[in-house]
Amino acid sequence: MKVVILDSPAEVARYGADIFQQQLQRKPASVFGLATGSTPVQLYRELIARNRAGNISFRDVRSFNLDEYMDLPPTHPQSYRYFMDSEFFDHIDIDPANTRVPPGDAADPITACAEYEQAIAGAGGIDIQLLGIGRNGHIGFNEPTSCLTSRTRVKTLTRETIADNARFFAEGEHQPHLSVTMGIGTIMEARLVVLLATGASKAAAVKAMVEGPVSAWCPASMLQMHPAAVVIADEDAASHL
Ligand code: GLP
Repeated sequence: MKVVILDSPAEVARYGADIFQQQLQRKPASVFGLATGSTPVQLYRELIARNRAGNISFRDVRSFNLDEYMDLPPTHPQSYRYFMDSEFFDHIDIDPANTRVPPGDAADPITACAEYEQAIAGAGGIDIQLLGIGRNGHIGFNEPTSCLTSRTRVKTLTRETIADNARFFAEGEHQPHLSVTMGIGTIMEARLVVLLATGASKAAAVKAMVEGPVSAWCPASMLQMHPAAVVIADEDAASHL
């Protein structure tokens, strides 16, 4: 696991964008695993700017998102499909048909999750998997105690994660307690994993991920076993290392 510590969230975004840019130069038809949350937003803005400037193109890219809430329609502003469209896909030259988000609204989630895994394999696997980290060490929605070899499946959210994400929902609005997420085993198969962490609220999780034992109590710690994982953290997120 490589750990890169930078001065600011803006530098974290630029460093991450450089990795994507180099990958696109090597392989224009790359397959990207993408993440939601507030952390990657600056990186997406950086990639949008580089796309507009003509430095990179997503024309041949296929993407698979990490996770999605269950039972939120894609038109709901808090669905991860809506987030990806409005924060990223609508602003770049990617073919919308080549962007996939886990099936949060499937009538038969078990079959739909298996199909999602098959689609990733059919695309040739993920070249770069982008990740954020939850304060409890989750990646995607693989909460503490998740099986370290898990595949795409339905996961119950912990109380902590529900509380953390409550800020995005209006008071009294339905907030899902279930999600569909790529598994830790799915993430581990990506050829390169890039995890971004910014802000002091992530410092304990970053310490557990990098210096703690590999344990289901901190799902991100499994990245210690990945042959090519890069953690890009700002000073605040790295402050407990
Ligand atoms: C969310 C997402 C994760 C994300 C994490 C941190 O619940 N499921 O993929 O990495 O929590 O989010 P943020 O970047 O907003 O802190």
